[in-house]
Amino acid sequence: MNVRRIDLTSNDSFLFTKVNKDSANKEIAKYPEGRQASAIIAILWIAQKQNNGWLSESAISHVSDFLVMQKIRVLEIATFYSMFNLSPVGKYHIQLCGTTPCMLCGAESLKKVLNKEIGVVGSLTKDKLLSWVEVECLGACCNAPMVQINDYYYEDLDEVSFKKIIKDLKSGKEIKTGSYKGRLTSEPSKDPIVLLDDEIEKINIKRIKPGLK
Ligand code: FES
Repeated sequence: MNVRRIDLTSNDSFLFTKVNKDSANKEIAKYPEGRQASAIIAILWIAQKQNNGWLSESAISHVSDFLVMQKIRVLEIATFYSMFNLSPVGKYHIQLCGTTPCMLCGAESLKKVLNKEIGVVGSLTKDKLLSWVEVECLGACCNAPMVQINDYYYEDLDEVSFKKIIKDLKSGKEIKTGSYKGRLTSEPSKDPIVLLDDEIEKINIKRIKPGLK
């Protein structure tokens, strides 16, 4: 896991666009009167989307004013969740899962690709196309190892398939989401080995149709 500190070198000034202000107000309207702070995660997400994928200090201040919350409370949320980026990211921001199931299935080899193609963890390429961080479990362990690129998951990766993804991103090609071993979502990676016993099948049929012999 990376040290999560906000980048203080940016001099940008952030204000919600009209469209995003409306979206943020819709989020607030989901909560009871006076509980507008409950919408913090959704509103930080809107701010991050508007701000090219990261939350600058100015964006944090604006959200804090918008929600009438202390800035430190907004910072607490933004620094806790790895979904919020605290420094500029690339057009394609890669989150590599390094937690145990992904690590055991080859995340280290994906990390080597990232080190070679982008740089050490937390790097952003000079052309601002690619950046990467290591994160904890993204909840797709059964399709390990995996990465998230912007809003989508890329799963069942190995060094070869991942290198190809990076190459395609660099050349502006579209990349497919999901499994790179041809699995449909998280179906078994080999033939199914459960619920194949004839007796179990008969029991299940009797449950559905109790009169059946
Ligand atoms: S351990 Fe990688 S997605 Fe869960």
